[in-house]
Amino acid sequence: MNKKDFDISIIRPEMRASDFKRRGQGMSRARLKSIKRGLRTFHTLETMAVNIYKFQITRKTDDLNLQLISAMSNEMTHLQDFQAKLFEYGFRPSKTRFMYWMVGFIFGFFSRVLGRSAILRIGIWVETKAVHHYKELLHDIDWDEETRGIIEKDQADEWGHIKRWQSFLK
Ligand SMILES: [Fe+2]
Ligand SMILES: [Fe+2]
Repeated sequence: MNKKDFDISIIRPEMRASDFKRRGQGMSRARLKSIKRGLRTFHTLETMAVNIYKFQITRKTDDLNLQLISAMSNEMTHLQDFQAKLFEYGFRPSKTRFMYWMVGFIFGFFSRVLGRSAILRIGIWVETKAVHHYKELLHDIDWDEETRGIIEKDQADEWGHIKRWQSFLK
């Protein structure tokens, strides 16, 4: 699937009770191990991403803040995607993810203090790294089809964030 196929105006795609499944039965240990590593990486990155946007939001009622709220909510969707998948596979989140919570807070808070340009530049920098991570893990890991579809949608969302912050910088 191509990233252009995804509707990134959908911040929170619908999830029905029947979408939740036990996953991983019949998979080799090596495949499960790589999926676990990938899901933990995504879950940790998204924990950081939620915090960056959360701490960038100021009290001003301008368009940038509205877009930051939208991006934060979108990252909360990503976090939910990977948290659900971890537990569906019988895995647990990374124990060191709180360090990334802190990193997200630091990036978010200090870019907010520095102002609009820093907010946008940090966003672009972090999202560019995220897109790269998504590309690598999509390539390296033999995902189940449903999880792969979710990862591709989330990657398209990250592209959308980069484009949005770039348009604000112009
Ligand atoms: Fe994300
Ligand atoms: Fe993002």
